[in-house]
Amino acid sequence: MKRIESRSALQTALRPVWAAGRSIGLVPTMGYLHAGHLALVDRARQENDVVVVSIFVNPLQFGPGEDFERYPRDLERDAALLAGRGVDIVYHPPVADVYPEPPEVGLKAGRMAAGLCGRSRPGHFDGVLTVVAKLFHRVRPTRAYFGEKDAQQLALIRRMAFDLDFDVEVVAVPTVREPDGLAMSSRNVYLSPEERAEAPVLYRALAWAAEAIRSGERRAAVLLEGVRTRIAAAKTARIDYVELVRWPDLRPIAPAAKLVPGETVLVAAAVFFGTARLIDNVRVAVP
Ligand code: PAJ
Repeated sequence: MKRIESRSALQTALRPVWAAGRSIGLVPTMGYLHAGHLALVDRARQENDVVVVSIFVNPLQFGPGEDFERYPRDLERDAALLAGRGVDIVYHPPVADVYPEPPEVGLKAGRMAAGLCGRSRPGHFDGVLTVVAKLFHRVRPTRAYFGEKDAQQLALIRRMAFDLDFDVEVVAVPTVREPDGLAMSSRNVYLSPEERAEAPVLYRALAWAAEAIRSGERRAAVLLEGVRTRIAAAKTARIDYVELVRWPDLRPIAPAAKLVPGETVLVAAAVFFGTARLIDNVRVAVP
């Protein structure tokens, strides 16, 4: 496994791969890897000749007062995990390699970033799309792998590839969970023991909504209220949002609306447990 820190070394390593027309699977990450990331890596390993994993905590996608500085980092542990998964290249550039100068021009996520996490984190998805576009240019992947845990991010990256003609297949990988249902996240390390014990309420509430929809509940207000009440029962939980949107266009479904049979909906929530802001979602085809 090659560990690469600069754009030019990355080009040198990939030039023969591009020339031979071998397939490249890219897994973009911010590191501090867990089993969720590794599911993306394993899938990339199965489907491509060469696997590139990027590890870069992207300052552009963090707002003022967010956790950019304290975001957990452990490059040596990450590299050891990736070497054990048959990864060919780990690209872990410093900020100056990705942004030699503060960027003047970037991508705008637009309407699809108006709700969900985009509402509480203004500019976040502009930063995500900008860095992912740069990674796509630098690596020229055949396929790129993203987790369904970050559903809005996944939908936006698919849409970016479509709108801007990126010749890459965006592959979605299901959310990997702890045995109690909590979605794996690098941010779970922020949780105190009490918060960790309560955090599975997030998925339990969303799973309740999925089951209710499958059992015929169509009233958005009932679903939203049911999720909110279940989460609010946890003492350490503070709800950022609970929303219902259509998949994959992320059009909002108003509380007064009824779900339409045949459409696919996303029930998504962000909840603070102490200082940790956790997100999760379920996707359901309305029967
Ligand atoms: P990061 O949070 O490190 O996540 C990297 C990838 O792993 C994302 O595609 C995310 O959806 C996926 N992932 C995280 N937890 C997961 C889980 N429990 N199950 C399945 N997949 C999971 O998302 C980012 O980094 C950044 O925004 C990035 C795309 C790298 C751009 O900076």
